[in-house]
Amino acid sequence: MKNILLIGSNGQVGQELQQILPPYGNIIAVARPAVDLAQPDSLRDVVQKYQPQIIINAAAYTAVDKAESEPELALAINGTAPGVLASAASQLGAFLIHISTDYVFDGSHSSPYQENDTTNPLSVYGKTKLAGEQAIADVGGNYIILRTAWVYGTYGKSNFVKTMLRLAAERPEIRVVADQIGSPTWAKDIAGAIAQIIPQLTPEISGIYHYTNSGVASWYDFALSIFEEAQQLGFPLRVERVVPITTSDYPTPAHRPGYSVLSCARIAAVLGNYPPHWRQSLRKMLAELYTQQNL
Ligand SMILES: NC(=O)c1ccc[n+]([C@@H]2O[C@H](COP(=O)([O-])OP(=O)(O)OC[C@H]3O[C@@H](n4cnc5c(N)ncnc54)[C@H](OP(=O)(O)O)[C@@H]3O)[C@@H](O)[C@H]2O)c1
Repeated sequence: MKNILLIGSNGQVGQELQQILPPYGNIIAVARPAVDLAQPDSLRDVVQKYQPQIIINAAAYTAVDKAESEPELALAINGTAPGVLASAASQLGAFLIHISTDYVFDGSHSSPYQENDTTNPLSVYGKTKLAGEQAIADVGGNYIILRTAWVYGTYGKSNFVKTMLRLAAERPEIRVVADQIGSPTWAKDIAGAIAQIIPQLTPEISGIYHYTNSGVASWYDFALSIFEEAQQLGFPLRVERVVPITTSDYPTPAHRPGYSVLSCARIAAVLGNYPPHWRQSLRKMLAELYTQQNL
C-alpha cells in the first residue's frame, strides 16, 4: 500500500477524499494546527516524517474576497506552500496532486478554457493560486494540478448551496448574480476523479488538468436549480421570488471572471469519461444533505 499524505483534510474536498481514498493507500490525513501551509517547516517536517509516495494538497486560502485584504497570507498559503510541497515531494520521488482554480482566468473567453490557455487572474486569490501552479511547475517533479470551479459539498463550513438553502428558509425574495457563467462542481466528484487518477500516476501524465462537473450555469441558474431540487426533497423553503441581478448590482472586494467554463477533454481521456452533469450531482448532494440533516 502506498502512503498517501492528505493535507487539508477538513475542507470540502479534503473530507470527501478522506472518505473515498482508503482503498487506494494508507491515508495520513493532516490539517491545521499540526500542519500549517503558512509555516513551510511544518510541511517539510510532515513529509519527512511519513515519507509518502503521493501527497495531495486539498488545503488553500479559499476566502476569495478576504484575500484582497490579506494578500501576503494568501500568497504564503496558495503561492509559496505548493512550491515547498513540490520540492519535498521531488526529493522523495513522490507525486504531488494539487488543486487549483478557474479564477486563474480573466473570463474574456466565450468558449471553454483549455489547460494551456493564457492565464490572467483578476483577484488576489486567483493570482496567488496561479503563483502556486507556477511554483510547482518550476520544481519540475511529478505533479497533477487539477483546476476546478464553483465547489460545493455536504462537508465544510459554507458554500453556495448551503447559503442558498439558509436564505431560502428565511426570506421570500433572493437576488442572485446572473452574469457570471461557470460549472458548479460537487466536491465528492472531485475526490472521485482524484481516486481514479491515483492508480494511473506515471511521469507521462504529469501536468495541468481541468475537472469540473459537465454543463454550464450562472449563479442564478444554479440557485433556481437548488430550490427546485430542494423543494422536491422536502427541504423547508420560504422563498417565492428569485431575482436575477448583475455583478455590478452586487459589488464584492474581489473581481471574478464573467465566464470561467473549463474544458475537461484532457482529464476525460485519462478517466475514460466526462464528469457527471452538475444538475445530476447537485441532486445527489442535496439528497445526502437532507439525510445528514435529518429533515
Ligand atoms: N471552493 C471553491 O469554490 C473552489 C473553486 C475552485 C477551486 N477551489 C480549490 O479547491 C481546493 C479545495 O477547496 P475547498 O472548497 O475544499 O476548500 P475549503 O473547504 O475552504 O477548505 C480549505 C481547507 O484548507 C485549510 N487551510 C487553510 N489555510 C490553511 C493553512 N494555512 N494550513 C493548513 N490548512 C489550511 C482549511 O483549514 P481549516 O479547516 O483549519 O480552516 C480548510 O480545511 C482549494 O485548492 C481551492 O483553492 C475551490
